[in-house]
Amino acid sequence: MSNSQEKRIDVAGVCGTPSWAYNDTVKDHFFNPRNLLKDHEDFDAGGTGTVGSPACGDVMLVAISVDAKTKRITGCRWRTFGCASAIASTSMMSIMVTENGGMTLARARRLKPEEIIDRLGGLPDRKYHCSVLGHEALREAVEDYLNHELS
Ligand code: FES
Repeated sequence: MSNSQEKRIDVAGVCGTPSWAYNDTVKDHFFNPRNLLKDHEDFDAGGTGTVGSPACGDVMLVAISVDAKTKRITGCRWRTFGCASAIASTSMMSIMVTENGGMTLARARRLKPEEIIDRLGGLPDRKYHCSVLGHEALREAVEDYLNHELS
């Protein structure tokens, strides 16, 4: 097997073998992304964050709604010009920050890409930066919410 063939194995099968290294959870979130911001959706965003990946040039927008009393995230929407890994990891992130009554803003600020990857059951190493995209946009959205609160 050539070097170039070996490198392709982690995201797609070698020529002629239609296998994926993405696990079923990742594929599910890629094909059925949760909490995607729809065109013309009237989402009451308290904070938004947009970031670009220096690694690949892709872009991510994350919007959150927040309960002003509890400081918990009540809603999360996102959209991206990113890849399958970015879509799957941000979909999972949007569930993590809204489940169980919503994540506190303080906890959301400390959320790490590794936690998202763990919930997905893993991503190929070369796709780590894709999971950072949603997580950084979330942080920006939290900061945006807090800045608006102070002003
Ligand atoms: Fe750009 Fe995955 S390659 S987000």
